[in-house]
Amino acid sequence: MSNYDIKDINQAEGGRRRMDWAEREMPVLRPIRERFKKEKPLKGLRVSACLHVTTETANLMVALQDGGADIVLTASNPLSTQDDVAAALVNQFEIPTFAIKGEDKVTYFKHIRAALEHKPHMTMDDGADLVSSLFFIEMGRFEKLEPSLASWAKGLSDDERREMLKGVIGGTEETTTGVIRLKAMEKDNVLKFPVIAVNDALTKHLFDNRYGTGQSTIDGIIRATNVLLAGKNFVVSGYGWCGRGLASRARGMGALVIVTEVDPMKALEAVMDGFQVMPMNDAAKIGDFFCTVTGDLNVIDGDHFKLMKDGAIVSNSGHFNVEINIPALEKMSKGKPALVRPFVEQYETKDGRKINILGEGRLINLASAEGHPASVMDMSFANQALSAEYMAKNADKLEKKVYSVPEDIDKEIARLKLEAMGVKIDTLTAEQSHYLNSWEEGT
Ligand SMILES: NC(=O)c1ccc[n+]([C@@H]2O[C@H](COP(=O)([O-])OP(=O)(O)OC[C@H]3O[C@@H](n4cnc5c(N)ncnc54)[C@H](O)[C@@H]3O)[C@@H](O)[C@H]2O)c1
Repeated sequence: MSNYDIKDINQAEGGRRRMDWAEREMPVLRPIRERFKKEKPLKGLRVSACLHVTTETANLMVALQDGGADIVLTASNPLSTQDDVAAALVNQFEIPTFAIKGEDKVTYFKHIRAALEHKPHMTMDDGADLVSSLFFIEMGRFEKLEPSLASWAKGLSDDERREMLKGVIGGTEETTTGVIRLKAMEKDNVLKFPVIAVNDALTKHLFDNRYGTGQSTIDGIIRATNVLLAGKNFVVSGYGWCGRGLASRARGMGALVIVTEVDPMKALEAVMDGFQVMPMNDAAKIGDFFCTVTGDLNVIDGDHFKLMKDGAIVSNSGHFNVEINIPALEKMSKGKPALVRPFVEQYETKDGRKINILGEGRLINLASAEGHPASVMDMSFANQALSAEYMAKNADKLEKKVYSVPEDIDKEIARLKLEAMGVKIDTLTAEQSHYLNSWEEGT
């Protein structure tokens, strides 16, 4: 395979312009990059990154490269790549990039293979596809791999397969679903190197998952449909970090928001936040828009499609395209769906209703919009860069576990972000500090 696979190298200039635009909104990552240029904390490390190929990711890649890393970047979703950005990374920064918007599954895993062939010392995942492929290959569990990746892996000797994993000192993981998969690997004793759960940093999920997903998901739905949200019933499935953000932004657009949940605590929170909460069986009958953000399977299932109104608009902003049971809808429909607008597939059910699925049920904020705004990715990717540096320095002291981002890194990112925003805060006086650490004073 050549050292990149992208749609069109001629788009590089436009991609570079958009990277620069995003960089202006990344004041925390910027000084990290400047320091990396001088200190080279990642010198000599091969990093394989499997992330959404967006302008913000591109800026992270450049920061890591300036830190001395030898990088290969591959897409973490078939629909999230910004082709102009992939071109800029190859053409202007000589970063081998393997990502084409709309690539099929075979190509997606051919690209993962390129990341594996890079023989990484460090992995940087968004959803754990890279790490899980690496482990399945090492364990010889070829049946779990996409067939073309499996046939490549079968051609490797046992030593080659083991060597691939031996060289890895550690990894980082960007999203909730990836962290869940990694923790399950740790529990099953198959995790073979330490991984830092970037998602668990407060400066990541409090802002990226909530405000980033909130805004960009609405953006994706609007760009795909151009349908007015005001006055419509908007069903949000899952009231976790992403769901909270999405529900609040949908309400901000004037929609009447309904939340579905399985966790009583989250459901109660949604009720007290002023949303209607009900089971999907009830919500399915009245929703105009549906968006899943659960990280779970078949949250919108065949039985729910049976209840939906004609014209319902259904999307997902959770990590994998498993939250909406599209095969069940296919079975209920007459023939193939019609692509009525870019990213809008319209299914006609056998009883004559039209149901619109956005972005093939994949992350709609990245499929039809541009993903999170740079200002939140600034903090997520500052966490990625500093976690990579931490891993480079401390991997030999870490166990084969999933670790949180060290608290001092998390707090420093919050401090830098506030500083960049020109926001000042108070500091504890010595008296307050003493009071907050004592138990002797009361009524
Ligand atoms: N679109 C994006 O750019 C983006 C950004 C960050 C995270 N994510 C992804 O979004 C998903 C959610 O992330 P999060 O951080 O909000 O997770 P979270 O764990 O905070 O929230 C998920 C919520 O979904 C609920 N849930 C689970 N099954 C459900 C079901 N069947 N019906 C209704 N609710 C259900 C859970 O109880 C939980 O409250 C993950 O897949 C994550 O990787 C996407």
